[in-house]
Amino acid sequence: MIKIKNLDEMEHFAKVLVKHVSAQDIILLNGDLGAGKTTLTQFIGKGLGVRRNINSPTFNIIKSYQGTDVKLHHMDCYRLEESDEDLGFDEYFEDNAVVIIEWSQFIAEFLPSEFLTINIHTISEHERAITIEGHGTHYQKIKEAVERELSFD
Ligand SMILES: Nc1ncnc2c1ncn2[C@@H]1O[C@H](COP(=O)(O)OP(=O)(O)O)[C@@H](O)[C@H]1O
Ligand SMILES: [Mg+2]
Repeated sequence: MIKIKNLDEMEHFAKVLVKHVSAQDIILLNGDLGAGKTTLTQFIGKGLGVRRNINSPTFNIIKSYQGTDVKLHHMDCYRLEESDEDLGFDEYFEDNAVVIIEWSQFIAEFLPSEFLTINIHTISEHERAITIEGHGTHYQKIKEAVERELSFD
């Protein structure tokens, strides 16, 4: 668990994470409404060199941005709760891009078997607690590298 005290520390977390991710990595962001999933995505985008403003893709479900070396595909699957439509997810996963998914439980059947999960828990208005799960050896390594660098408890 890492405790985040404010937005600056969330940005720092994103910076460290970005150092350890590369094209075709998939990051699932879990947390209640307002936990900071989109905010963390904005910081990750900044770390990847995205210059455009990143905002919540709720109504479009998927928004794509160009970073310095890789793209960022940002999915918010909240509106797919009642749907089992495949929006061509594989093409996004196979692209030269980092893929970030909010509300991934609604596209569970389309997800690859390996991914990184980041859980964000709201502690107070500005404080958050983050836990990371690495599913598969590649993502387990990312988890360990990030935790080592941030000295997780
Ligand atoms: N430490 C923090 N980390 C992330 N967001 C924070 C933090 N402190 C305050 N916030 C605020 O909480 C809100 C999170 O909203 P958002 O990122 O849209 O959440 P979600 O996408 O999880 O619904 C934003 O208004 C953000 O500025
Ligand atoms: Mg959001």
